[in-house]
Amino acid sequence: MSELQLSLACDAPAVNEPSAQLSSEPAGRVLVSDAFDLLRGLAPESVDLVVTDPPYESLELHRARGTTTRLTTNWFATVADARLPELLQLVYRALRRDRHFYLFCDEVTADVIKQQQGVGKARMPNGGRKCASGFVYWKEIIWAKTTLDGTRIRGGTGYHYRAASERILFFEKGKRTLSDLGIPDVLMAPRAGVPGPAVKPAAVVRTLITQSTLPGELVVDPFAGSGVAGVEARAQGRRFLIGDIDLAYLDPSLADLTPAGAAVARAAAPSEVPAHEPPVLEALADGTAFVEELEAAHAFGWLDPGPTPALEKLTALRLKEREAAVRRALRTSPPRPDEPLLLRAWRAWALSGRRL
Ligand SMILES: C[S@@+](CC[C@H](N)C(=O)[O-])C[C@H]1O[C@@H](n2cnc3c(N)ncnc32)[C@H](O)[C@@H]1O
Repeated sequence: MSELQLSLACDAPAVNEPSAQLSSEPAGRVLVSDAFDLLRGLAPESVDLVVTDPPYESLELHRARGTTTRLTTNWFATVADARLPELLQLVYRALRRDRHFYLFCDEVTADVIKQQQGVGKARMPNGGRKCASGFVYWKEIIWAKTTLDGTRIRGGTGYHYRAASERILFFEKGKRTLSDLGIPDVLMAPRAGVPGPAVKPAAVVRTLITQSTLPGELVVDPFAGSGVAGVEARAQGRRFLIGDIDLAYLDPSLADLTPAGAAVARAAAPSEVPAHEPPVLEALADGTAFVEELEAAHAFGWLDPGPTPALEKLTALRLKEREAAVRRALRTSPPRPDEPLLLRAWRAWALSGRRL
């Protein structure tokens, strides 16, 4: 049994027992992990709710077109559409019976998932639609993005009606009644307004958690980003397990729950150094970069005395994946107090999410 299974097995009540009664102490964990590994490491039927927001493949389209997403959103690795059936299967396996699963996505990914899951027009007698993974698919819940005061819808990008919403696919395993049957399927909230890629608003995540869990139950988000699911689960007295391959944008209030040595950059003091983009990696590898750049790369461990495996791995990546990987490498390695100013400027660039 893996460390993760072991720890959760101690925390989590046995299958089909009311978890609220067994765990009066809400507890949380934050892991640095690949989402698929995290889900695979969970004991079957040990989780009460999965609410998650994978970095879907269709984001690459916005990036390729150079829309606002490219300019404002930090780059992160995406999960190929072809892997989504595996994701749903792993979530299904980890959930107890009579539980819910919420999946944030855009309209393109929503279509892909429904096709993959064989969701057609045939309905079950209760109105739900069967999925290949075993879930019942209920519907898309809409997050409608509002102005800060919540009074008006605020449009974003696009020229075929401005994009002002995101989808949340609502799945069920077994049968569970929502806590409040009066909540509509359009949830209004402003954008989160905190640093990080595609951060979801606390109010929306809170609604999903309180609708589908009881106090003491276990909420899991394997693509945690800012960790809003953990923050809200904790605030509502639920237990939580969240993970991400990159904790750079984790909410500072969760920093003490991260593994020793994990870089939680948002929790660190903001950088005084202006952001600066690193040079092309080939120039570092072949020594044609400026001396200050070579010094900074050396201090980072990329050249010593020649290109390191880490740098070689990065240069082997396709260009569109490379930037995300370079940013992640810079964000997630703990800074040293005496490192060159230029390296600190690269780290500030990696954190800023901006193209310069
Ligand atoms: C859309 S963001 C999640 C945002 C989050 N819902 C929030 O509100 O802050 C997707 C996250 O998935 C992470 N990610 C990308 N590939 C991953 C993987 N294979 N396993 C785990 N996390 C991954 C990224 O680092 C990013 O933080």
